Amino acid sequence: MKAIVVVDQNWAIGKDGGLLVHLSGDLKHFKEITLGKTVIMGRATLQSLPKQQPLPGRKNIVLTENARLTEDFMKCDFTVCSSMGTLFTELIANGDMEDSFVIGGEKIYKQLLEYCTEVYITKIDFAFPGADKHFPNLDMQPDIWEVISEEAPITENGHSYHFMEYRRK
Ligand SMILES: NC(=O)c1ccc[n+]([C@@H]2O[C@H](COP(=O)([O-])OP(=O)(O)OC[C@H]3O[C@@H](n4cnc5c(N)ncnc54)[C@H](OP(=O)(O)O)[C@@H]3O)[C@@H](O)[C@H]2O)c1
Repeated sequence: MKAIVVVDQNWAIGKDGGLLVHLSGDLKHFKEITLGKTVIMGRATLQSLPKQQPLPGRKNIVLTENARLTEDFMKCDFTVCSSMGTLFTELIANGDMEDSFVIGGEKIYKQLLEYCTEVYITKIDFAFPGADKHFPNLDMQPDIWEVISEEAPITENGHSYHFMEYRRK
């Protein structure tokens, strides 16, 4: 599987239950990469989505151990998995492993990164104060991860950011 994430200079990804900043160019990039694929998210990330609805044009899998929420999410066309075991059973049964994207948040990235072969990173050239969620710093693991592409910076909302791709060695 693969992961996709927006990080700041300190590999922070979120604050107070939400994203660090809204970047429409990044949302477009996210849509282009994940459209037609399976996206895997944690319950907290789902609850941070607009209207808490599935991302259109993608198979949406949410992880939660909460049985009551499971019923609500299933009514909204989410596939719900209550453990990593059931997630892998689901992905393998449907042949979705290769085409699956881990889309957050912190708890889910940390558990699934070891199964990812590629990570799409949007790096923002800024350190957001008060950030409380992080992604593992791939630059600190050069024996495991290599950068295979890095695009030119884009400036939006006063922030400079660029798209990068890391691959497991
Ligand atoms: N920058 C980015 O690209 C990006 C992307 C996504 C999210 N984010 C940010 O990340 C933050 C959310 O991250 P988070 O770590 O708080 O939450 P999260 O990873 O989105 O969700 C955590 C929840 O997932 C469920 N879960 C976790 N492991 C599980 C397992 N093994 N089996 C079953 N369920 C499991 C649990 O739900 P229950 O408690 O219901 O059991 C857990 O509370 C937000 O600030 C969000 O904006 C940033």
